[in-house]
Amino acid sequence: MIIAQISDTHIALDIPDADRRLSDLALTVADINELDRLPDAIVHTGDIVHNGRQDEYAEAAAILAKARVPVYVLAGNKDNRSNLRDAFSGGGYLQRDFDFIQYAVDCYSVRLIVLDTQSPGNKGDFCGERLRHLTDLLEADATKPIAIFTHHPPFTVTEGPDAVHFENLQTMSRLRSELQRTGRVVGIFSGHVHRAVSGDVSGIPATVMTAIATTLRHGRYPAHLKNRPVYQLHYFDPIWGFASATRIANGSLTRGKAV
Ligand SMILES: [Fe+2]
Repeated sequence: MIIAQISDTHIALDIPDADRRLSDLALTVADINELDRLPDAIVHTGDIVHNGRQDEYAEAAAILAKARVPVYVLAGNKDNRSNLRDAFSGGGYLQRDFDFIQYAVDCYSVRLIVLDTQSPGNKGDFCGERLRHLTDLLEADATKPIAIFTHHPPFTVTEGPDAVHFENLQTMSRLRSELQRTGRVVGIFSGHVHRAVSGDVSGIPATVMTAIATTLRHGRYPAHLKNRPVYQLHYFDPIWGFASATRIANGSLTRGKAV
């Protein structure tokens, strides 16, 4: 199984950077569509838009709709759950009977469990209700390995100004304990930090990918990559687990279309 991960597109419409952010996402989707081996799915790990507005989601959803494989989304700190749900309801995987955007995808050899770590502020939260729901999701199928997707990384990130991206360590520790409890979680993939870093959750490999929005990513990129979004491809092998590769989006855009 191959999963393409994209993150932190921060689509915004009334800023000087607006066109750049739209084209970064469009370039990324176009590049994924042209891979020799198409991924089985694309997961967007949040901050899809910058202000949570319906018109921003409409733009993001229109670009993501061009993907040749199913796209799954989650909520970052900049997202608005209600508007996100409305924009992506056509996918059929966002249930409306639970307040949080948290769900499992069962149609692949690896179960995808997507978590909602949004809080009213910038950092992550994971309340008791979400924790109990995660337990239910983890217990629903004991036969497959599980890949977890979050916006806020559940591990300390030693690069950048903040090591802990949750509101408090206790919350992050409870989430970490639950993720390692079953022994079936084989990879944890996050966004939010806008830089590529790796860590672990009690031995489970965990990574953060950088922002698709090229003007928002941190870390050093050579000049020729300045306008080239980078994304992650996660390859799952039943024996060896996940191996990940960074892919630089090729191509250019003419009038919003990839060429
Ligand atoms: Fe972000």
